[in-house]
Amino acid sequence: MLLDISEIPRVALERMNKVHEEEIKILNRLYDSIQKYERGQGSLEEIDKNFKDFLEDVTAHFSSEQQMMEEFNFFAFPMHKGEHDIVLGQLENLKKRWEKDKDPSLVKAYIESEFLPWLMNHIQTMDTVTAHFLSHFIRD
Ligand SMILES: [Fe+2]
Ligand SMILES: [Fe+2]
Repeated sequence: MLLDISEIPRVALERMNKVHEEEIKILNRLYDSIQKYERGQGSLEEIDKNFKDFLEDVTAHFSSEQQMMEEFNFFAFPMHKGEHDIVLGQLENLKKRWEKDKDPSLVKAYIESEFLPWLMNHIQTMDTVTAHFLSHFIRD
């Protein structure tokens, strides 16, 4: 396991917290399948499936936030979307390398040293401010 669900910073909108929880579950599944592979169990197919699930989930996660920001004219929408876009670009590159080399250690290193630290920081900053703003319009 990469991160316990209870360690995710919480924001003012429950629906965003749910999305973050689901993302960490999917990320843990991917991470576990890589660790399993490193122990000589598991398979590249399993990692491949979990990696694709993860990419799909991140895309849906970012789109759901962007939709709400646009709907309620969030003042820092371009900044928030800009952060999402940088990560989507990194993931697109990682996906290309994965498809070429099928090297699980690259995916693992990216998750550990880039994605997870970025996500924790992003939730504590961008998502926190956004959720606070949106909570004035959305009840959940
Ligand atoms: Fe988020
Ligand atoms: Fe976000």
